[in-house]
Amino acid sequence: MSALRTLDDLLAEGVSGRRVLVRADLNVPLDKQSGAITDDGRIRAVLPTLGALVEAGAKVVVCSHLGRPKGAPDPQFSLSPVADRLGELLGAPVHFATDTVGDSARSTVADLADGQVALLENLRFNAGETSKDEAERGAFADQLAAFGDAYVDDAFGAVHRKHASVYDVPARLPHVAGRLVLREVEVLSKLTSEPERPYVVVLGGSKVSDKLAVIEALLPTVDRLLIGGGMCFTFLKAQGLEVGTSLLEKDMVETCRNLLERADGKILLPVDVVVADAFAPDAAHDTVRVDGIPSHRLGLDIGPETVAGFAAALSQAKTIFWNGPMGVFEMAAFAAGTRGIAEAITKADAFSVVGGGDSAAAVRALGLDESSFGHISTGGGASLEYLEGKTLPGIAALEN
Ligand code: 3PG
Ligand code: MG
Repeated sequence: MSALRTLDDLLAEGVSGRRVLVRADLNVPLDKQSGAITDDGRIRAVLPTLGALVEAGAKVVVCSHLGRPKGAPDPQFSLSPVADRLGELLGAPVHFATDTVGDSARSTVADLADGQVALLENLRFNAGETSKDEAERGAFADQLAAFGDAYVDDAFGAVHRKHASVYDVPARLPHVAGRLVLREVEVLSKLTSEPERPYVVVLGGSKVSDKLAVIEALLPTVDRLLIGGGMCFTFLKAQGLEVGTSLLEKDMVETCRNLLERADGKILLPVDVVVADAFAPDAAHDTVRVDGIPSHRLGLDIGPETVAGFAAALSQAKTIFWNGPMGVFEMAAFAAGTRGIAEAITKADAFSVVGGGDSAAAVRALGLDESSFGHISTGGGASLEYLEGKTLPGIAALEN
C-alpha cells in the first residue's frame, strides 16, 4: 500500500477556521425497545481524531450511517441519540442537523464557530449514499463535499463500502486518513505480513457464507483455525453428524466438506455443544457431545470441553485474530463459550486482534478488560475483507 496522507499532515497545514468533513462510523447498536445506545465503543473510537480537530480550531462536520435505512428518512435510525452521546464524550455540545444535505445541514454548518462540532443526520436517509449508479452517488457526494474544505476518513468500519461518503467525497476534496483508520490499517497489516507464529484464528458468528472468503484466504496462512458459533453446525453436518434444529446452511455443507479436506487438520471444530429446547434465554438446556445432538434441540453455544481444547491451542499462539461470538452470548445461559474463548485470548502471550462489531461488543458486554487485548477493531466486515486481501474502496480512495 502506498503511504496515506494522515491527520497529522492536515493539522500541520493548519485547520483553524477551516471546515473539515469527517466520515465516521457511528453505527452503534441500539436497544430495540428504548432506542438507547447499548455500546458506544465506535463513538469513543473517533474521539482522538475529533478532539485533535477541535483543539486545532477547525469547524468539524461529522457524517455517518446508522443501520440500514432504505434511502429515505426513518426515525428509528436517526443519529440524534448519537449526537447527544458524542457531545457528552467530547465535553461540548454537538450541533445536530436534522437532515443530511438539506436546509438544516446547510444552516448548521454555516453557523459553526471555530472548534465546534456538527453531526449531520444519517447518510443512508439519502438514496445517493449507497447507490450503484455513479452519477447518483456523485451528485450526493457533491452536496456533502460542499460542507468541507478538507475530508478526513475515520470510518474504518465502512471502508469496505463503495459509498458516496467513503469513496466519492475524497475524490472531490483534499483527503487524509484519521487516527482510527491509520491505527486499524497498521494493526491489520501486521496480521497479513508475516505474523509471529503460531498464528491462531478463531471464527464464530452465525453464517459460513459470510466467512467463506476469509476462511479460503486464511487457510494457507494460519497454523490453526478454530470454528465455533452458529456456523460450526454446517461444518459438523459436513462431517456426517446430525445437528438437530441448530442453524444450518444446507447449501454450504458441500463447501464445508471440501474446506475440511483441504485444511490439513488445521481446522478445529467443537467436540461438545450446549443444546436448548428453544432460542430463548430461559430455555431448558444441556451440554452434549457433538455426536449426540437430539433431533428436536438446537445448539446455542460451544461446550466446556471445546472451550478447554480451543484455549489450549490459543495458549500456544503468538498471534491471534478473533471474529464472531462462539454462542448466543447475549443470553447468560449461552455466554460461557464466548467468555471462555475471550479469557483464553487475554491470557495468551500473543498479539491479539478482536475484529468486528459483534465480538468487540461481546468483550465489553461480558465486562472483560479491553486493554488486555492487543487491538479491538471497530470494523467487522471491513477487517475481514482486509484480511482477505481485497481492495477496500475507502482506503483506495485515500491513496489516490
Ligand atoms: C458495520 O456495522 O459493519 C459497519 O458500520 C458497516 O455497516 P454496513 O454493513 O451496514 O455497511
Ligand atoms: Mg456489518
